[in-house]
Amino acid sequence: MSKTVSLETLNSKAVAEFAPALIAWQKTHGRHDLPWQNTRDPYKVWLSEIMLQQTQVVTVKDYFARFLAVHPTVASLAAASLDDVLALWSGLGYYSRARNMHRCAQDVVALHGGAFPQTAEVLQTLPGIGPSTAAAVASLCFSERVAILDGNVKRVLTRLLGFDADLAKSANEKALWALATQVLPRDDLWTAMPHYTQGVMDLGATLCTTRNPNCLLCPVEKLCAAKKQGNPEAFPVKTKTLKRTSQSLWLLWASLADGSVFLEQRPTPGVWAGLYCLPVFDSYEALTTAISAAVSPADASLLQDGAVFKHVLTHKDLHIHPVRLQMLEKPKPAVLKIKGNWVSAAAWPALGLPAPVRKLLDTM
Ligand code: ADE
Repeated sequence: MSKTVSLETLNSKAVAEFAPALIAWQKTHGRHDLPWQNTRDPYKVWLSEIMLQQTQVVTVKDYFARFLAVHPTVASLAAASLDDVLALWSGLGYYSRARNMHRCAQDVVALHGGAFPQTAEVLQTLPGIGPSTAAAVASLCFSERVAILDGNVKRVLTRLLGFDADLAKSANEKALWALATQVLPRDDLWTAMPHYTQGVMDLGATLCTTRNPNCLLCPVEKLCAAKKQGNPEAFPVKTKTLKRTSQSLWLLWASLADGSVFLEQRPTPGVWAGLYCLPVFDSYEALTTAISAAVSPADASLLQDGAVFKHVLTHKDLHIHPVRLQMLEKPKPAVLKIKGNWVSAAAWPALGLPAPVRKLLDTM
């Protein structure tokens, strides 16, 4: 299949036969005894889906039971304190899930009369419910014909369809989602949708695994483009995206009465390489230590902490802490033990400065 996948190029046999084969397999070989199955209660299904987003099934089982024992209904969860919810969540990690879950329960009560909305479209408007989780709840509980697209499902469908476009690009993920919708069941949706959604997750978790997929036992082996090509493990295609990181840094913003500022040229390589910048420190302590010899007690009283602000780089969020030092007179160079130069108010605007530093200096 080409990098740009059009619906026309889809294998029509796969489109027609995938869902019925998967549903038949789910009924006989899929998982049926997980604690959040055999119910259409959206509260239980939602609770499990949020927990399963970043946590293994075995771990979720215990937490799910404990959570339900304390809060058997969404109204009970909504009425709990956030502290109690966080305590129940303790150990599951990714605590924003618990905070969003608590807010979601409160919204269900306050905005939806205590009943979960029944469509993926409306479910997605609630805190912590993304498009895939919304589709899981809507299809498992209300049999809406909507496609989930979590990691397991991406693997199953890219292999089935031979979809080799890079999923790191959001346009390609969107295209796969459209295809995922094409292969959904078309008949007897009330029964079919829960089996289908559970089935595609089960297939990804048990047979269509990342390494050594068990194609021999797969119910759709004959339909699978990747199997035909002999390279199921090559799917999905996803180039590595660099992980975003964050860093705090402290900027010494020293100025004289005439408007001069003290600037260093940034080393290469590194953030802002080669640009002129307020001296950068890894901590407040490092900054105050560096200037202690140069700052008289009178000057020290002028040291002020500016408001912290965030500056977003391609792969990093910088949390910038400006520390203002308005000096009465220029300290002797030998005393201020920081590389750099005093630059007059007339000269610094023409230098190459990082955008957040220029913004800061412009406020002077
Ligand atoms: N992961 C996400 N949803 C799941 C479900 N319903 N059953 C098993 N694993 C899951």
